[in-house]
Amino acid sequence: MADSPKTATLTIGENSYELPMKSPSAGPDVVDISKLYGSAGVFTHDPGFTSTSSCESTITYIDGVKGELLHRGYPIDQLAEKSHYLEVCFLLLYGYLPSSVELEKFETTITHHTMVHEQMGNFFRGFRRDAHPMAIMTGVVGAMSAFYHDSTDVNDPRQREIASHRLIAKMPTIAAMAYKYTIGQPFVYPRNDLDYASNFLRMCFAVPAEDYEVNPILSRAMDRIFTLHADHEQNASTSTVRLASSSGANPFACIAAGIACLWGPAHGGANQACLEMLREIGTVDRIPEFIARAKDKNDPFRLMGFGHRVYKNTDPRATVLKKSADEVLELLGVDDNPLLQVAKELEQTALNDPYFVEKKLFPNVDFYSGIILEAMGFPTSMFTPIFALSRTVGWISQWKEMISDPALKIGRPRQLYTGETLRDYVEIENR
Ligand code: ACO
Repeated sequence: MADSPKTATLTIGENSYELPMKSPSAGPDVVDISKLYGSAGVFTHDPGFTSTSSCESTITYIDGVKGELLHRGYPIDQLAEKSHYLEVCFLLLYGYLPSSVELEKFETTITHHTMVHEQMGNFFRGFRRDAHPMAIMTGVVGAMSAFYHDSTDVNDPRQREIASHRLIAKMPTIAAMAYKYTIGQPFVYPRNDLDYASNFLRMCFAVPAEDYEVNPILSRAMDRIFTLHADHEQNASTSTVRLASSSGANPFACIAAGIACLWGPAHGGANQACLEMLREIGTVDRIPEFIARAKDKNDPFRLMGFGHRVYKNTDPRATVLKKSADEVLELLGVDDNPLLQVAKELEQTALNDPYFVEKKLFPNVDFYSGIILEAMGFPTSMFTPIFALSRTVGWISQWKEMISDPALKIGRPRQLYTGETLRDYVEIENR
């Protein structure tokens, strides 16, 4: 990050403080306030981090106004069209597009790490069958540090790399196992002759009683969902991973923290919430009622799968997924599915409604990923685990970048305290 020739001046009462500014390679300049408390004795206050950059990063860039998402400079629509998930994983982790030899080696490494320690199956069996797969994933990924403690030394670059490969490779196996466990079917082992997405589909949908053929269109759509969710700069779960890892915690614990954060309905849980909303709407004729509720200031209801903190134009991932959704729906011939009919009609109604147009509330990636996953036959409870497995490479790349930074400091925000000031303890009989 280059120093900017500009500076910012902060005036507090009679005193002025000159604050250095920095220029990024893209995006707005930042005012460096890291020494502000030392010089002026004040904190800045920014709940929700709406105006605060929390780190320096070279991985992902978003221009929310233009609706642009770049990974290491490459636009997401080109990556979704021309690349595939494991190549994007390499790009995010190492910073450049691999040669064919490097890619083959990387794919082989990931493929050969997809099995999980056999004893992890016992760990799964400790959960209730009706547990949410995200609850299982949070626990099992956290437990990986107990199974793979030979890759938990964050100060050893080789161990960091092995942990990265293990997490990318094993996450689909863990997500599929969580699913199989909740429906009472046997776990399906990964197969090394299948690509990443096909392997995941097979581990979810195959049963020992019959052969399972992976449909290449579904596998391509699955790979696209993985690719489009791979990273999204400093969102809530990624910031959680960074904050957790700033203490030196092991990578498996940090990714488990990211999974826990992602589960929330305002973040990764939105795709499940969106499908549940479509189910609640039920039929096309009830759409106006729900649109009216979404606009009513006195009703907390929001249209799930619409709006984004950063994108205020279009979500470029949603544009790509909309195409995939059309392909998948046509292939599966599910046009008569009432839920998908509600989704299509709702999309058109909201896109033409002045409230949504004026507030720049467009369908986000969760809206279309939910539709595709529903059509593929995934239960809604699996939507967020699929997001989590896709985002693992983003979390891991951000974690790796942060740990390798010699300027790493433990994250420790300050607060605007509004509680009681000093007072004396009151004995229980006098209260
Ligand atoms: N339905 C109806 N109104 C909405 C919606 C929505 N989905 N989203 C925002 N608005 C309205 C708000 O009421 C607010 O109106 P006001 O200005 O009159 O008060 C205005 O639009 C701005 O909304 P904010 O909540 O201030 O925007 P913010 O950037 O904080 O929120 C968020 C973004 C959380 C994504 C929000 O749009 C939302 O709740 N959407 C539904 C949940 C969702 O789909 N989340 C997925 C995000 S994408 C992801 O995680 C991959």
